[in-house]
Amino acid sequence: MGKRVIKEDFRRRDIVSIEDFSTEEINYILEHAEKVEKNPMEFANSMTGKIMVPLFFENSTRTVGSFQIAMLKMNGKVLDFDVDRSSIQKGETLKDTVKTIEAYEPDIIVVRHSDDGTARFIADVVDIPVINAGDGKNQHPTQTLLDLYSIKQIRKSLDNVNIAIAGDLKYGRTPHSLALALARYENCKISFVSPEYLKMPRDLLKKLKEKRVNFEEYGLEELEKVINQTELVYMTRVQRERFPEGPEGDFEYKKVSRQYCLTLDMLKNVKPEFRIMHPLPKVTEIDPKIDDTKYAYFFKQAKNGVYIRKALLDLICQN
Ligand code: NCD
Repeated sequence: MGKRVIKEDFRRRDIVSIEDFSTEEINYILEHAEKVEKNPMEFANSMTGKIMVPLFFENSTRTVGSFQIAMLKMNGKVLDFDVDRSSIQKGETLKDTVKTIEAYEPDIIVVRHSDDGTARFIADVVDIPVINAGDGKNQHPTQTLLDLYSIKQIRKSLDNVNIAIAGDLKYGRTPHSLALALARYENCKISFVSPEYLKMPRDLLKKLKEKRVNFEEYGLEELEKVINQTELVYMTRVQRERFPEGPEGDFEYKKVSRQYCLTLDMLKNVKPEFRIMHPLPKVTEIDPKIDDTKYAYFFKQAKNGVYIRKALLDLICQN
């Protein structure tokens, strides 16, 4: 048992990696998000006088949208910062941009970037709290928190989870932080399903081994067999934008694109409690006919993003 967590522990904290939190702290955030979900009025003024700066160097619908909505629902304000219209396009360094933003005294920066480590770099440069909204293929800690929240909502507990994580496990940042987070809970079993080229990074599997996680790796052709034995599948899309530029990347992408698709037919022998998660956006990896079945959980999962982000803003920006 770690030390008892209190609300003040989160004041002005950065969220760069899911590893920055203890398991007790993760559990505290999930419980806080439940409070936010149940009693929205209690938080209706939590962000009064506070300003968030979203710095999105990569496209986003849910992450940027749910952070903004979370801020607005709690009476906070959001700077309309568009990277494509900023001086970064004139060649200004990232460091100068963020030092300038810091000088304007906002309360929190939320950053997404295509390079691994960018959130850590910014957190080291500025004195205001920084939230990593995805850095390259590295991590996406707030997505992981909403994934954990959703798993808890589906099956009440984060212990004894039996999950398949499928798709692009090499470049997908959400499988990386999710696997590391699940590793903290009792007796989890993870089946990694991917094309050969897109397997989980070996150093991450090494970490899971050290934590004594029960995991196995499968090829995509085994997806149907695997999901008949799991209670959850976490599907992900091929991260085309992270493949190497040039002939090698093109060749590998052609091999894997459209190679996998979860179809209705593949669900005929799944357990009744089976659910499909996906961080979204989904492209071709889930047949849209699945959207209206009881197995689809991804839109509910996206909705949970608002509760998690409200909870995080409330905890980090508290006076
Ligand atoms: C994910 C991401 O950006 O890593 N999207 C999200 O934030 N929900 C997944 C993806 O882009 O495939």
